[in-house]
Amino acid sequence: MYKLDRTLDNIVVLGIETSCDETSAAVVMNGRNVLSNVISSQINLHQKYGGVVPEIASRKHVEMIIPVINQALEEAGMKIADIDVIGVTYGPGLVGALLVGLSAAKALAFTTGKPFIGVHHIEGHIAANYIEHKELEPPFVCLVASGGHSHIVYVKEYDQFEILGQTRDDAAGEAFDKVARALGLGYPGGPLIDKASRNGDSSAIDFPRVHFGESCYDFSFSGIKTAVLNYLNSLEQKGEPVNVEDVAASFQQAVVDVLVDNTVEAAKAKEVKNIAIAGGVAANSLLRSQLKSAGSQYGFNVFYPSPVLCTDNAAMIASAAYYEFIRGRKSQLDLNAVPGLRLGQR
Ligand code: KG4
Ligand code: ZN
Repeated sequence: MYKLDRTLDNIVVLGIETSCDETSAAVVMNGRNVLSNVISSQINLHQKYGGVVPEIASRKHVEMIIPVINQALEEAGMKIADIDVIGVTYGPGLVGALLVGLSAAKALAFTTGKPFIGVHHIEGHIAANYIEHKELEPPFVCLVASGGHSHIVYVKEYDQFEILGQTRDDAAGEAFDKVARALGLGYPGGPLIDKASRNGDSSAIDFPRVHFGESCYDFSFSGIKTAVLNYLNSLEQKGEPVNVEDVAASFQQAVVDVLVDNTVEAAKAKEVKNIAIAGGVAANSLLRSQLKSAGSQYGFNVFYPSPVLCTDNAAMIASAAYYEFIRGRKSQLDLNAVPGLRLGQR
């Protein structure tokens, strides 16, 4: 079990996140106690394009970053002088978007002389689980599924990760977004498919579930996306109506089956007791309930963050930065944004 060095009690971290389409800043004490978590979403701006437009995202981050940081400090009842460490996402993500948060963090670190730490975005998503589950500690297996990533990660220690499986093509959230678009549901697709599925029959259409064989926990979601598009085209050619709820529910069921199967198999192989999920797709209601049931069946404790901590937010970045900081890590002011940063890469 990890023991906190008592000389490092009450470390207050200002977290900053701008890797995609949320400008967020948060103040978190000792990695798990959230004092504020301000999230300014740009979803409305990107909705009409059906996805995130990088240039628009960067410009909006520039506009919002200072007000969002100020609000996070104010809601926490703190001034910048009260902050011990600044934690910021430096990759992976959209380079122009990442640079806004990183530049703000570096400017604050430079002018105040406070240490700052560049955080891997996925490490942040994983840390979201520590915030609401004080008893959760490594080792555990974590499924990270978002718009840009689908990874099964063995969290050996707070700062040690082994990727057990990953997508070979589309991310799970990307598949949700593309299928929702084809169904005319809108953007972002995940929550809309989740909602539409509640009134649908998940066994109406048998969409493919890709498995790569025993001891391989990789994913592939491009086949299922194509299968849905082919199914919709064939109905259109025959002039038959689409039951949107049934398609949504059948698609969601197929994706969730694979996510749950691979995560449980990976957890069995690693002989861990705990499974966590993280990332935007971890907000999915079927994934949450099906993984809980699988946990009861196979003897795993299953953890997931509240939906607001599943999607991008700075509290999770502050939490991850805290665990890096108490291990003595600090970044230098020449740190650059790394759009394709790999987990575990320094
Ligand atoms: O973690 P996140 O906010 O951003 C990235 O790092 O990508 O994840 C956003 C993704 C989107 O693809 C969105 O459709 C998906 O998470 N998502 C969901 C749900 N809520 C968000 N997918 C399935 N079910 C949901 N309820
Ligand atoms: Zn994310």
